[in-house]
Amino acid sequence: MKTLFSACCISLLMTLCAQAQTNNDAWKAADVQLRFLLEQTALNRKSIADKSKLMPRCVEKDGSLRLVGIGDWCSGFFPGELWLMWQHTQDDFWREWAVSNTWKLEELKWNNSSHDLGFMVYNSFGKAYELTGERSYRDVVIQAAKTLASRYDANVGCIRSWSWGTPDRWQFAVIIDNMMNLELLFQASLLTGDRQYYDMAVSHANQTLKNHFREDFSSYHVVDYNPADGSVIKRITHQGIADESVWSRGQAWGLYGFTMCYRYTKDVHYLQQAQQIARFFFGQKDLPADLIPYWDMRDPAIKTHPTEVPRDASAAAVFASGLYELATYVGEAEAQTYRRLADGILQSLTTQYQPAPETSQGFLLLHSTGNYPANDEIDVPIIYADYYYLEALTRQEALGK
Ligand code: GLY
Repeated sequence: MKTLFSACCISLLMTLCAQAQTNNDAWKAADVQLRFLLEQTALNRKSIADKSKLMPRCVEKDGSLRLVGIGDWCSGFFPGELWLMWQHTQDDFWREWAVSNTWKLEELKWNNSSHDLGFMVYNSFGKAYELTGERSYRDVVIQAAKTLASRYDANVGCIRSWSWGTPDRWQFAVIIDNMMNLELLFQASLLTGDRQYYDMAVSHANQTLKNHFREDFSSYHVVDYNPADGSVIKRITHQGIADESVWSRGQAWGLYGFTMCYRYTKDVHYLQQAQQIARFFFGQKDLPADLIPYWDMRDPAIKTHPTEVPRDASAAAVFASGLYELATYVGEAEAQTYRRLADGILQSLTTQYQPAPETSQGFLLLHSTGNYPANDEIDVPIIYADYYYLEALTRQEALGK
């Protein structure tokens, strides 16, 4: 018995050492790649006159770097990555780049045209405030939350997602992705003591829990509400293959989002929702063995020529980060399941989804899919995959300690 126990301990120790080594390798590779991305970004910004506020978003199919303006929903991920690098290394090189890139986004605190202020401002200024405690970052977070709150509609009980789209397409679209923006509101309530942001976030989460999910806990992408009375008009997709399909990143936003809502509220319904999403998604028989999902788990081509169906490394990275947090709220046996899944995802991403050093414009991960139906960003490196990958590595390391 004693020998068996020792053998188990040794095997566990070996697994932990191997995992720590992979985590270490991943950060080293990220260091090299992100320095390269900084160079490529500066080079490309210069070549288009003074566009110093442009941020990297993805690598185009032809290998060039796509830069976007600060109003793009992805603008906060690059500064966020720089903060995560600083958090890990404590090297002032990263802090200086993180500070200068973060402040480029300041004017977004007044931008009421996007529900994605959470992604844009919370992953940049919010991260900066979390890591430095400096008041100037906090003030931007609070103003951005006020601006985001202006998109809340009391009849619907949600933050409006897209403002574009004719009324026959949708009247008041709410997308599952929007769960991620609630963090900005929860945090603003904590920082100001003003409960209105908390109440809006809770209402949005409750409406999403009620209206966005099927019986099997898979999620629709878009719910269109009637702004007159808050009733559901229809449930459709925008980035998935069909209205009734399982768009992978949407499932990941849901798991991460409800786990985050549980962090702020301790409402057990949110925890249970995250648990059910995990059970549903990781129980699918078509899930590839490396745990990196197809871009949509209901793409019919999975049955006929699976190797040609694009994967979505970004969905995997968001899942991994969310699962590490979820593991901290449940009993040990269940926590082990979530940690194993997240470790498995990171192992795959680190060993099979990375480009060679100083290639792919400095992005960290290959094979993400942004918007397949629009034929945009298919099977390419995308900035939010890299951001959530670094966040997941940070969380993995913290749990290991
Ligand atoms: N709207 C965020 C996404 O494409 O996942």
